[in-house]
Amino acid sequence: MELTFEELEKKCKECRACSLSETRTKVVFGSGNKNAKLMFVGEAPGETEDLTGIPFVGRAGKLFDKYLEAVDIPRESVYIANMLKCRPPKNRDPKPEEQDMCIDFLRGQVKLIKPKMIVCLGRISAMRLIKPDFKITAEHGIWFNKGAYKMCAVYHPSLLLRDPRKKEDMLKDMQSVKSELLKYEN
Ligand code: URA
Repeated sequence: MELTFEELEKKCKECRACSLSETRTKVVFGSGNKNAKLMFVGEAPGETEDLTGIPFVGRAGKLFDKYLEAVDIPRESVYIANMLKCRPPKNRDPKPEEQDMCIDFLRGQVKLIKPKMIVCLGRISAMRLIKPDFKITAEHGIWFNKGAYKMCAVYHPSLLLRDPRKKEDMLKDMQSVKSELLKYEN
């Protein structure tokens, strides 16, 4: 039987399937509009997200907010989630087995929200959701049809903090996300 959004969120917040549940402060389930046409999927919570329980609210999140604002996509109009719902210690990359144990929560979110578009924030979610050999430098901003969803990946905002030269490409990709989104507005 399919869970409601609230049931799925409760189940996720009580999850003890992997060891990240022992070191987390808060589960970061996701936030935003449950009827969104556009969903963003990042990697895993960082320190500020772990403390607040909200995705993309730290330094990278603040930068991401600027791009949403630049292309006139209100943050409240979209849904934002991560591959992993708990913070990996010292922000290390999520392990494949952690992703395997957590992916059903994301699948459940997508099933219930039914977005038209899913945009991966960074390589990790693109490799899991678009294709295993996804190359972020070569393939960012390219649209893929995956079943009922239009998907693409953009640079992860943390990468932009480390390599500001990529910011120009990020703006172009976010403009493309906005143009695509306009196709679904009526
Ligand atoms: N990086 C992510 O991938 N997700 C967050 O929520 C914050 C930083």
